[in-house]
Amino acid sequence: MTRSMLQPESVCSFQSPFSLEGKTAIVTGAGRGIGKAIAKRLVAAGANVMVNDLEETMLRESKAEFAYPERMDYVVGDLTDPRVPQEVVDATLGRFGSVDILVNNAGYSWDNVVQKTTDEQFQAMLEIHIVTPFRILRAASVYLREAAKREAAGGERVMRKVVNITSIAGTDGNPGQAGYAAGKAGVIGLTKTLAKEWGRYNVNVNAVGFGLIETRLTQPLTGDDSSTGILGHQIRLGVQPSMLESIKMACPLGRLGTPDEAAGAVLFFCSPLSDYVTGEVLICGGGFHF
Ligand SMILES: NC(=O)c1ccc[n+]([C@@H]2O[C@H](COP(=O)([O-])OP(=O)(O)OC[C@H]3O[C@@H](n4cnc5c(N)ncnc54)[C@H](O)[C@@H]3O)[C@@H](O)[C@H]2O)c1
Repeated sequence: MTRSMLQPESVCSFQSPFSLEGKTAIVTGAGRGIGKAIAKRLVAAGANVMVNDLEETMLRESKAEFAYPERMDYVVGDLTDPRVPQEVVDATLGRFGSVDILVNNAGYSWDNVVQKTTDEQFQAMLEIHIVTPFRILRAASVYLREAAKREAAGGERVMRKVVNITSIAGTDGNPGQAGYAAGKAGVIGLTKTLAKEWGRYNVNVNAVGFGLIETRLTQPLTGDDSSTGILGHQIRLGVQPSMLESIKMACPLGRLGTPDEAAGAVLFFCSPLSDYVTGEVLICGGGFHF
């Protein structure tokens, strides 16, 4: 079959296969990087989005950049503060009236070989990558259960979505990342368990694990030893340039992914296209594995 014969169906009449109009999403860590790209895509698909991050300036600037700023609002706060996850869920219900999609994206890496990893460092990785998603999901559980019961009583089935962000460090392990890898592996256990607990409430619970995506976490490290302040810790974020080159060589697609490409994989799990997929981990890494 020639290309021109294919065009009328597969190219010319292409339309988005779904709309998220009327849905409300929460995206954590959405002030920059992958989280911001996810929020942007959700807004473009029609959803209302409540985002969270540590600093207001970033969130205010993001809002101004979005196609439909009125569909986006934000809560500033450190998610590892036990009160903040509940505040984010309450603010979303107050502002938009529902929670239909929840993306646990906030995270960072604080790396070292295991013999040089402090208790504080290891614990920080578990706090942000497992404890925080757990607290947000527990905070949302009341609404999710009640909504599903109400809908079932009315003879309706409405699918809702949880997407937890993990990493190939969590699925494969990676030297120098004992805490990060443990946190990212742990969130897969949380994902698979909630998929089983929440199937009865029509919630798809899945995870997306990234390979290397171009954000500040994978920026080439320079020789100047500069570090970034995250939650009071001074952390060198980035990857040795030689390591980045060998990763590109080993990656079937030969490059790092963009935040927008990363967001595409997440969008699948936020959409009706994944209504019969739950408890799964989708790796978005250009075919690269550690
Ligand atoms: N970039 C990659 O190659 C890569 C690979 C695998 C997994 N990931 C994961 O993807 C997610 C997004 O990472 P990214 O690359 O976009 O990084 P990023 O640093 O660009 O964005 C992460 C955001 O999370 C926020 N955040 C961190 N701790 C927070 C807290 N306690 N409360 C509120 N917000 C907090 C940060 O302020 C930041 O804006 C993370 O979970 C990360 O571990 C990234």
